Amino acid sequence: MKKFLVLSTITLAFFTSCSDDNSNQIATTTPVAIDFSDYLNIDFNNLSNYAFQTTPVYITKDNTVANPITNEGATLGRILFYDENLSSDNTVSCSTCHQQVNAFSDIDVASSGVNGLTGRHSMRLINSRFSNEAKFFWDERANTLEEQTTMPIQDHNEMGFSGTNGDGDFNDLIIKLNDVEYYPELFGFAFGDQVITEQRIQSALAQFIRSIQSFDSKYDVGRTFATNDQVPFTNFTAEENTGKQLFLTPPTFDGSGIRTGGGVGCSGCHAAPEFDIDPNTLNNGIIGVLNSVDTDLTITRAPSLRDLFKTDGTLNGGLMHTSISDINSVIEHYNQMPPGSDNAQLDPRLKPAGNIQNLNMTTDEKSNLISFLKTLSGTDVYSNEKWADPFVN
Ligand code: HEC
Ligand code: HEC
Repeated sequence: MKKFLVLSTITLAFFTSCSDDNSNQIATTTPVAIDFSDYLNIDFNNLSNYAFQTTPVYITKDNTVANPITNEGATLGRILFYDENLSSDNTVSCSTCHQQVNAFSDIDVASSGVNGLTGRHSMRLINSRFSNEAKFFWDERANTLEEQTTMPIQDHNEMGFSGTNGDGDFNDLIIKLNDVEYYPELFGFAFGDQVITEQRIQSALAQFIRSIQSFDSKYDVGRTFATNDQVPFTNFTAEENTGKQLFLTPPTFDGSGIRTGGGVGCSGCHAAPEFDIDPNTLNNGIIGVLNSVDTDLTITRAPSLRDLFKTDGTLNGGLMHTSISDINSVIEHYNQMPPGSDNAQLDPRLKPAGNIQNLNMTTDEKSNLISFLKTLSGTDVYSNEKWADPFVN
């Protein structure tokens, strides 16, 4: 009884001392841990590792300029990436069109945004950081990844804050995010104060995307134990090693553009070991436009050729900006480039001696090349929780 009395005195004293604002009383004495467990499956006291991930020693390319990854920034980026609040009608997030199970691309040929379909196929976001090319999108219209990240938000069809066609503009989105329960505190957590700006949204999203890495492929196992890419990998089958040589070695041609020897020259534009696109490439002769007879000569970028396939051998969605549905058609395109692919912007490497190339590949060469491309897929990136949807529902 005496104990109870003492306790109730303390309790009474507590409520008396904070009677004007009892909800914040504790925060002024001990820092309150961030807890948005009603919304988010994230332990803010024990963040996932985005900032200090290891990369293989042979990976040297990096397009980070002035926005190094922090665990706080990438965690905020993950939340933004999966948040449908970033679209005008709360139905679309970045992850609607960039799905983890599909290497952050989309099985659909064109993806659905708030006001319609995209004009090109969605791009995989695997190892986006590890390239010499710093520009983004199929046509490289974004000068940096940071600049890219808020362009889909400002696209009328995709996320609908375009400021045109009756859409709100980016400032309307910032006002909206200020009213979302978790954002002011999380911007404070990542950037030191609670101000939400476009530049901070870009920083956080770019950090998250640059953190998405995949280096546990069969290729990486082989490369780790090899002195360079040229030697046969001990973990590869004969077919995979032959495919690798074909990929890495430039072809030789006769005077009419027909291959007479060497490999098939893919790495001239998709260079190992990152398999990123050569910044100087022009177009590769795929000049179609989705659902149209028009042509598009502007495409000079591809994502890394890593993780074209899932581990079960199926594709992570269509290939090229026109979403070609099978790898054989891609190989056939390069093997015997159709006359229609000849154009003023075609990369000269695909037009030896003034004629569009004919690689004259055998059936075995084609299948060996595909076997090699399949070694470039990892497993962890498809399911690792740190890149997964953090929302409770
Ligand atoms: C409605 C579907 C859709 C939504 C939503 C969407 N994207 Fe995309 N994304 C695409 C398409 C399609 C492309 C290729 C467009 C092009 O090149 O013209 C693309 C390209 C990209 C690229 C370029 C990749 C590269 O290698 O060049 C990045 C990065 C990217 N998106 C990030 C995002 C982020 C971040 C968000 C959310 C803020 C987002 N996307 C929302 C469909 C979408
Ligand atoms: C002259 C440069 C060049 C060469 C050589 C080249 N490519 Fe490409 N590749 C590109 C460009 C540019 C794109 C993007 C084209 C597009 O989407 O229209 C691309 C796209 C691709 C894609 C689709 C990637 C995706 O994310 O959808 C695959 C697969 C591919 N190339 C495989 C190969 C193979 C295999 C070889 C060798 C036989 C090869 N490439 C040779 C420039 C080249």
